Amino acid sequence: MADHPEGSRPLWGSRLGFILAAAGSAIGLGNIWKFPYVTGENGGGLFVLIYLGCVVLVGLPIMMAEILLGRASRQSPVGAFAAFSRPGSSWPLVGWLGVAAGFVILSYYSVVAGWALHYVLLSLTDHFRHLQPDQMGGIFDTLYGAGDINLFWHLLFMLATVSVVLAGVQGGIEKTCRVMMPALFLIIMLLVGYSVFLPNGGFLKALDFTFTPHLERLSRRSVLEALGHSFFTLSLGMGTMLTYGSYLDRQASLLKVSLQVVLLDTLISLLACLMVYPVMFSFGLAPQAGPGLVFKSLPMLFAQLPGGLLISLAFFVLVVFAALTSAISLLEVVTATVMDRAGWSRRRAALVTGAAIFAFGIPAAYAGDGRLLGAWASMFGMNFFDTMDYLASNWMLPLGGLLIAVFTGWVMPESARRAAFGAPAGQAWLYTGFVFVLRWLAPTLVLLVLLHKIGVLQELGVMGS
Ligand code: TRP
Repeated sequence: MADHPEGSRPLWGSRLGFILAAAGSAIGLGNIWKFPYVTGENGGGLFVLIYLGCVVLVGLPIMMAEILLGRASRQSPVGAFAAFSRPGSSWPLVGWLGVAAGFVILSYYSVVAGWALHYVLLSLTDHFRHLQPDQMGGIFDTLYGAGDINLFWHLLFMLATVSVVLAGVQGGIEKTCRVMMPALFLIIMLLVGYSVFLPNGGFLKALDFTFTPHLERLSRRSVLEALGHSFFTLSLGMGTMLTYGSYLDRQASLLKVSLQVVLLDTLISLLACLMVYPVMFSFGLAPQAGPGLVFKSLPMLFAQLPGGLLISLAFFVLVVFAALTSAISLLEVVTATVMDRAGWSRRRAALVTGAAIFAFGIPAAYAGDGRLLGAWASMFGMNFFDTMDYLASNWMLPLGGLLIAVFTGWVMPESARRAAFGAPAGQAWLYTGFVFVLRWLAPTLVLLVLLHKIGVLQELGVMGS
């Protein structure tokens, strides 16, 4: 078993450093950009409830499993699966699936982060000041259609991501998250505070939309989306938490650190809704604006506020921060794998993998432009950008999560699993419960969702379409 001497692998400088880095990975565009618009499209309250259920029943146990696997093996995903399965088994392929998912996700994630960079520039030039609410949407649509501009920001963001990962676990990742995460939290609280005082009862309507369940607004697809999103927002299913767990000391309580990360992530998602929706309702708009929601709604608020320039600037800088602390975790998985597998230096691995991901993301940068791979949309029914997001969030992550749960619950030797769990004395039931959920509950739920997606359950007449 590959149990490295503790000295040969870098570790986090402190427990808080790990929490902030893991929360930094989890909290990102998924919370601030994606959650509000996906919840908007799925009708609000009931979707939020289902999503919370997915987080508790599936997300938390799989997060614990990933951290456990990383801490037990002290390896990146491929090596972790190899360490606890028979020689020659195909389990390490799950690790490769994760690396592929990280590669794909970061390639379009960086393009979205690029939109935020563009808005930083627009804020700096006080661009929103003289615009009417109905003109905000146009700015976003123009940006989305301008491939060259997207490409430029995509390049810049990937350069920033690579430079953090280059600087290493403690000096790069941990240090960056320590500064950016508290700042992010502060600004969100400030903006939610502003939203409370918006005219036309915007905040109350937002509260109602986010928390009151309405059965009639939910579609069957929503359940699938809720599960897919819980993987995405918690950075699960591809070995991110596994890799970060491989730098975690053995004393930390698995349940405690996982709970802290999950709670922080959920809190920020809900706060993001209470920041975005009040603006929409207050201007009499619906929160169904799709992927442009955050970029179309908040500038309306900023344009009207005294000091809007500063607030707008702070907001988009922090969206960039949130995206950056997530992007580095995606790149770290790919980079660490190449380091562990090929024996490359961190420098070489980060530069080469970063460049490859940048190149792969170029079609995503041109998704709304039509000059590059314009035929993609007519061939596959969605553009390149949406296809990658769909593939990764809806298929690769749930599949990866399912296999991680099965591997940790059934394949990994009991002794290694128990040792890495490290249940405090007198809490043996915690470990028993954890293994039960990993073996039965989490895989069953994910499997049902996957089967439903490929239409097997409909065939059997178990569920309608
Ligand atoms: N969780 C991040 C977000 O919400 C994105 C992310 C980072 C991610 N690492 C991941 C998603 C790994 C899936 C898997 O924005």
